[in-house]
Amino acid sequence: MSSYEIESLLTEARRFPPPAEIAEGSIAHPDLYRQSREDRLGFWADRARECVTWAKPFTQTLDWSGAPVARWFADGELNVAANCLDRHVDAGLGDRIAIRWEGEPGDVRTITYAELTAEVKRAANALAALGVGQGDRVAIYLPLIPEAVVAMLAVARLGAVHSVVFGGFSAQSLHDRILDAGAKVVITADGGYRKGKVFALKPAVDEALGLLGSASTVEHVLVVRRGENDIAWDADRDLWWHDALRAAPAEHAAEAFEAENPLFILYTSGTTGKPKGILHTSGGYLVQSAFTHRNVFDLHPESDVYWCTADIGWVTGHTYVVYGPLANAATVFLYEGTPDTPHPGRWWELIERHGVTILYTAPTAIRSFMKLGRQIPQGFDLTSLRILGSVGEPINPEAWVWYRDVIGGERAPIVDTWWQTETGTIMISAMPGLTTLKPGSAQLPVPGVRIDILTEEGVRVDPPNGGLLAVTEPWPSMLRGIWGDPERYLETYWSKFSRPDEGKWVYFAGDGAHVDEDGDIWLLGRVDDVMNVSGHRLSTTEIESTLVANPMVAEAAVVGASDETTGQAVVAYVIVKQSRREEHTDAEFSELLRAHVAKEIGAIARPRQVYIVTELPKTRSGKIMRRLLRDVAEGRPIGDTTTLADPAVMKLIEEMSGSPATTSITAGLPKRRR
Ligand code: PRX
Repeated sequence: MSSYEIESLLTEARRFPPPAEIAEGSIAHPDLYRQSREDRLGFWADRARECVTWAKPFTQTLDWSGAPVARWFADGELNVAANCLDRHVDAGLGDRIAIRWEGEPGDVRTITYAELTAEVKRAANALAALGVGQGDRVAIYLPLIPEAVVAMLAVARLGAVHSVVFGGFSAQSLHDRILDAGAKVVITADGGYRKGKVFALKPAVDEALGLLGSASTVEHVLVVRRGENDIAWDADRDLWWHDALRAAPAEHAAEAFEAENPLFILYTSGTTGKPKGILHTSGGYLVQSAFTHRNVFDLHPESDVYWCTADIGWVTGHTYVVYGPLANAATVFLYEGTPDTPHPGRWWELIERHGVTILYTAPTAIRSFMKLGRQIPQGFDLTSLRILGSVGEPINPEAWVWYRDVIGGERAPIVDTWWQTETGTIMISAMPGLTTLKPGSAQLPVPGVRIDILTEEGVRVDPPNGGLLAVTEPWPSMLRGIWGDPERYLETYWSKFSRPDEGKWVYFAGDGAHVDEDGDIWLLGRVDDVMNVSGHRLSTTEIESTLVANPMVAEAAVVGASDETTGQAVVAYVIVKQSRREEHTDAEFSELLRAHVAKEIGAIARPRQVYIVTELPKTRSGKIMRRLLRDVAEGRPIGDTTTLADPAVMKLIEEMSGSPATTSITAGLPKRRR
């Protein structure tokens, strides 16, 4: 049965109580909710002592006097890497597998906690020898190989700050991020495997540093050998990772740093053109990472094999591939490649081969597997799976039910987890051993997190009702700011609902949500100009700026249109400069501009369609009406055009975009969403 035959499940009314075996051994306990309701700060202080080993214990849980910049456990000291490594070895868990990794070509590596600790110590010594110390920024641009985890932990061990840049981002994007963070060292690889080929990473680093020229703060580039491909070499600047580690001493004593020592910067798209560097610090982040990972995934670290399919370039990879699981001494499975290489059953083969028990992935992946049909996963033994997770975008009920039935053997509970780069860790989720599940709903705030659904005016809505999602109290893993831009931090997250004169700070998440009569939360998507494509955040304005920067383009408007597989897809409407019109056909312009965006930002931002038009719908004040363009992109009747300066424009655009300029995998499928 394909996904499109199960329309009747659109309003799935079934409820799924916890399976007896999960309920009986549940890690999460109802007392967590009770304690967090009665004494939120006491609750977090207990979790902080339970989940983290402090070199110096904290005496104050939260200092909110500098709101909206929080200080959690501020007089406590810890080393984040030692919490993920040494303490487990000291506790006798050195032989437990920390990482089991499979490369796309099928090469396998198994790394115990003792081995990972030893490797991170050497890497920390190697970085220290290059002058990296507390507070220095290190950019990491790597494929999903164990060295990526080693690199992050080595940076953390030194009290330095990592800025991981997804390997799919372009040289230009890498350049912007290195410049903004002022990175001292870049860690990259010669290449990595993707779709059966080696993709080179080092040339993008060379290009990014070339663009920086004398503005570059980068002193060294460490290069991991993975692809065995030819790369250019600058002997004054470049070093092989394996040489540097071999030359480094084996012992490294982990120094303790203050809980608020910065841990990482991670760039994400906002409503304006420039990506923002979200800053996270150490203690509170690690506490909530470990706590949520343990409880939301019902982690039994002695027996589970946990696989989160995210790349380390995204926040999900930071929190739920690296810090949460390793702080909990879990066995993490990692896979380098794409789900369809060399065959479409690759993920299911990996689950069978490595005995994966917990799978955490995005609805986009589930929907593309649904399209291929259930016979593919059914060809593998998936009975090891006991918990399934979903993240990144709303999961539609039919994908939820398919995930549970086909992948989860009609028994594994699914936790739909809502959170953001900014929140650092999971904020809304069911608990597999406690919650009766509702397909399509993320359900309840995790214990210790306070969430409300508000009207535009900031009034809490009466359930059942819809509104804007807001976090009403600070939480340990919250962002501490936007790197180098305190104004933007205040403006983006805290200006909408806060009343600073009354000491009331409310975090605006940018998502719409519905709360039902039971108090369960249903996410409805972004309410701003941020798109969500395959669970990845993209900014409409950033893509518009990129298009307009092309010398062929006069004007551009970008919208996120519903897409059966990727949730949303990028659709662009472009006016070509009069002087350049004769150079290409519309179809050629369209292809060239799709390629331009992919080159400038990265393949994830490549528009599904670029329509070449002669006008854009504007109000009399000159504002582009994206709502109308979205109607066209989604094949809907065009809404109210009375505020347009020239209502005839929409008719023209509709005609011009009547047949898609470029084909896409969704062409011909019904344009429906949830
Ligand atoms: O719109 C929400 C959506 O993803 C946004 C955050 O994107 P990012 O910072 O890239 O982090 C993604 C992974 C945590 C949110 O504002 N989102 C994330 N998870 C869900 C979701 N929307 C609905 N349901 C979810 N479970």
